[in-house]
Amino acid sequence: MAVQSIITTPLLVILMSLRSYAFTEPSLHRQQPPSKGGVRAAYWPAWSDFSTSSIDTNYFTHIYYAFVQPAPESFNLEITESYKKWAPKYDGIHNIRPRVTTLLSIGGGGNNATLFSEMASSKQNRASFINSTIHVARKHEFNGLDLDWEWPGDEKDMSNLALLLKEWYKALVVEANTSRKSRLLLTSAVYFNSTISLIGNGPRSYPVRAIRKYLDWASPMCFDYNGAWANETGFNAALYDPNSNISTKYGIGSWIGSGVPAEKLVMGLPLYGRAWELKDPNDHGVGAKAVGPAVDTDGSMDYDEILVFNKDTGAKVVYDEVAVSFYSYSGTTWIGYDDGPSITKKVQFARSMGLKGYFFWAIGKDKDWTISKQASNAWGY
Ligand SMILES: *[C@@H]1O[C@H](CO)[C@@H](O)[C@H](O)[C@H]1NC(C)=O
Ligand SMILES: *[C@@H]1O[C@H](CO)[C@@H](O)[C@H](O)[C@H]1NC(C)=O
Ligand SMILES: *[C@@H]1O[C@H](CO)[C@@H](O)[C@H](O)[C@H]1NC(C)=O
Ligand SMILES: *[C@@H]1O[C@H](CO)[C@@H](O)[C@H](O)[C@H]1NC(C)=O
Ligand SMILES: *[C@@H]1O[C@H](CO)[C@@H](O)[C@H](O)[C@H]1NC(C)=O
Ligand SMILES: *[C@@H]1O[C@H](CO)[C@@H](O)[C@H](O)[C@H]1NC(C)=O
Repeated sequence: MAVQSIITTPLLVILMSLRSYAFTEPSLHRQQPPSKGGVRAAYWPAWSDFSTSSIDTNYFTHIYYAFVQPAPESFNLEITESYKKWAPKYDGIHNIRPRVTTLLSIGGGGNNATLFSEMASSKQNRASFINSTIHVARKHEFNGLDLDWEWPGDEKDMSNLALLLKEWYKALVVEANTSRKSRLLLTSAVYFNSTISLIGNGPRSYPVRAIRKYLDWASPMCFDYNGAWANETGFNAALYDPNSNISTKYGIGSWIGSGVPAEKLVMGLPLYGRAWELKDPNDHGVGAKAVGPAVDTDGSMDYDEILVFNKDTGAKVVYDEVAVSFYSYSGTTWIGYDDGPSITKKVQFARSMGLKGYFFWAIGKDKDWTISKQASNAWGY
C-alpha cells in the first residue's frame, strides 16, 4: 500500500498526549438505557478487495452495495459488460451471515452529476430510471434502494429530486402490492447540512418535505469537512467546532431544524482520515500550514492504515476533546481521523439526539472491526 513508501524508522512507542484521558473507561459507560433497534449500517465498496463473506454482521443491520450508475440516455442502471463482473458481487452480498438487510446504492462520490440532473429533469427519464432500479433490485434480491447523488447542483435539481422521490416511492408501493413482496426500502445519502452552500454554485436546499414523506431515512454524510483541497490541517469529521458551522452537530441540527424528524436521520461516520504534508514539521497543530496531501494522492487514509502509520513512525497522537477527533503527526505528515473513543462519543451524540442510527463509510477500512464494535456497543448492543 501507499503507506509503506513513507515508513522509514519503525518505532514501537505510540506517544499519547496528556489530553488523552478519553481512552479510559468512564466515557464508555452507558448513561442511558440501551436502545435496541435502529440502523447500524455500512457501505460496502464493490471495488474493494474486502470480500462479503468476511463481513461480521454482528455489528451491522444494513449493508449498502456501493455503487451502480444510470446509463446515459436510457437512465437504466448500467449492467453493461464492464459491470457484469459485478453481478456475482451483488449476489455475494446475500451470502453474508447472519443475514442483514441489503440496499443497492446508486451514485457515489465519483458519479456524473450532470447525468443525475438529466435523469431527474423529466417525467419520462425518471420513470425509466425508477423502473430499472426496481428491476435490478428484485433480480438481485436487494431489500432496498439508496440514492447517493453527489450533488444536486441548483434549486431546479432539488425540486426535481422531490419529484423523483415521490414517483419512486409510489412505484415501490405499487410494485410491492403487485409482487406481494415487502416494499423495497428507499433511502438517500445526503450532504451533512440541509443546504449545500460551499460546493458548486450558490446555496440550494434539499426538498425536506419530500424527504420526510417518501424516504425511509436520509443519511447525512458527516465527514469530508477538511481535506487536501484546503492548505491547512483540519478534522475530517469534527463533532463540534466553536469557530465554524462545519461540524456534525451543526449539520444534524440543520436537518432537524429544516423539518426532517430526528428518527428519519442516520448519521454518517468515517472509517478513514485525511493526511497532509506539513509546510513546517514544527508547526503541527490544527490549522497548521500544509503544502498538499500526504500518503495518498487525495490524502485520504483508511483507519487501519493510520494505525500502521502511527505505530511504524512513532507518531504523536493527540485527542482533541473539543472537536471529538484525533490527529497524529510524524515528520511532515499530519493526519486527522477518528478512533474508537471519538466514534463512541459521536454514536452517543446520535442517540441523545434521537436519531434512527448511524452508518459507516466504509466496510474494509476498520481494523479487525475495532471501531464497528465500539459503535455497536455505544448504540446499546
Ligand atoms: C456526464 O453526463 C452527461 C449527460 O449525459 C454527458 O454529456 C457527459 O459526457 C458525461 N460525462 C462523463 C465524464 O461521462
Ligand atoms: C421496465 O423494465 C423492464 C426490465 O428492464 C422492461 O422490460 C420494461 O420494458 C420496462 N418498462 C418500462 C415502462 O420502461
Ligand atoms: C393493490 O392491488 C390490488 C389488486 O391487484 C388493487 O386493487 C389495488 O388498487 C392495489 N393497491 C395499490 C395501492 O396499488
Ligand atoms: C448549512 O445550511 C445553512 C442553512 O440551513 C446555510 O446557511 C449554511 O451556509 C450551510 N452550510 C454549508 C457548509 O453548506
Ligand atoms: C492552496 O495553495 C495553492 C498553491 O499555493 C493555491 O493555488 C490554492 O489556491 C490554495 N487553495 C486554497 C483552498 O487556498
Ligand atoms: C453559524 O450559523 C449561525 C446560524 O445558524 C450563525 O448565526 C452563525 O453566525 C454561524 N457561525 C459561523 C462561524 O459562520
